Formats: sequence, C-alpha cells, structure tokens
Amino acid sequence: MNIRRAEPKDLTNIQQCNLQNLPENYHMRFWAYSAITWPEVSFLAEDSSGRVVGYVLSSIEPDEEFPWLQVGHINSLSVLRTYRRLGLAKRLMLLSKKAMIDSHDVEYIQLHVRKSNRAAFSLYSEKLGFQIHRKEIGYYGDGEDAYSMRYILKPRS
Ligand code: ACO
Repeated sequence: MNIRRAEPKDLTNIQQCNLQNLPENYHMRFWAYSAITWPEVSFLAEDSSGRVVGYVLSSIEPDEEFPWLQVGHINSLSVLRTYRRLGLAKRLMLLSKKAMIDSHDVEYIQLHVRKSNRAAFSLYSEKLGFQIHRKEIGYYGDGEDAYSMRYILKPRS
C-alpha cells in the first residue's frame, strides 16, 4: 500500500473511488479546483497496481464569521470496502491535518457527516477528536441531517 499526496493526474481515479463509496459525487470541476488550489492537503492510498483505494479531498476556506482566519475542510473521505478497518482513513486524515497545520496554520478543521453514518462518526469523534459543532437539518440531497463537526486547534478566548 502506498500513501501519498494526491495530484491533479489522480483525479479520475479518485472520482472512481468516490463513486463506489459515497452518494455525494462532486463534479470533476470541483475535484480539479481543490487539487490545483490546495495541492498540499489532499492524499490518497493506492494498491500495487496504482488503483486508488482511499482518498481524502480537502480544502482551505475562510471562517464564516472571521474571514481573515483560515479553516481546513474535509470535503470527502472514503476507502474501498475491501480495504476498510485497516487504519487507512485515519492515516489519510492525520496526513491532511498535519498539512493543514504546517501549510496554512488553520484555526480548526471542519467537516459534515450523515447522522446515520456510524463508521465515519466514530472515526471522527473517537479516533480523531472531532466534536459536534451543530446539527444541520436536511443538509443532504435526500433530506438527511448532518452533523457539522470540528477539530479545534486554536480555542477562541
Ligand atoms: N463501525 C464502527 N466504527 C468504525 C467503522 C465501522 N464500520 N469503521 C471505522 N470505524 C472507526 C473505528 O473507531 C476505527 O478504529 P478501530 O478499527 O480501531 O476500531 C476507526 O474508525 C478507524 O478506522 P479506519 O480503518 O481508519 O477507517 P476505514 O479506513 O475503514 O475508513 C470510512 C472509514 C472512511 C468511514 C469508510 O468506512 C468508508 O469509506 N465509508 C464509506 C464512505 C464514507 O462514509 N465516508 C465518510 C463520509 S463524511 C466525509 O466525507 C467528510
């Protein structure tokens, strides 16, 4: 297994992995924009044949309330079914977190997760220290609620 930074040339393979794992499927323009604008914060895992088996696609955005502050966003994370429970998602998340801190000095890291997604929720809360920031009613296209979760790096005084 090889884990490395994602590059624009990987986008089609990352999209394939995303299509197999998640109903939230972004347009290629979105993948390309993120990969070109913030190339340092997205990572992938590939098998020996070069197939993408997991990825984390991240970006850096301004804070909604204090736009001069930088926030790390986890836009999409997934691992192919046959490669789950091997620690890949956790490793990808930790790499992205380190890159967000080193390159952008982010205040916190933000993500959304479906209320019913027990696997991802326990990864974020129990293994990575994210906390529920708020519940967002009907956030997803099918009407399911999301937990907006944050990993705070610089607590506001
Ligand atoms: N049930 C309960 N807890 C789980 C599960 C599960 N099925 N899977 C992972 N976890 C938790 C456990 O605490 C686990 O630690 P443990 O194995 O020591 O018990 C911890 O997460 C770390 O697991 P990893 O092996 O790193 O996670 P994995 O590589 O299997 O990937 C993921 C987890 C990404 C949620 C995977 O199941 C997946 O791709 N699911 C479908 C796509 C998805 O839901 N993506 C997240 C959407 S939210 C977003 O993208 C911002």
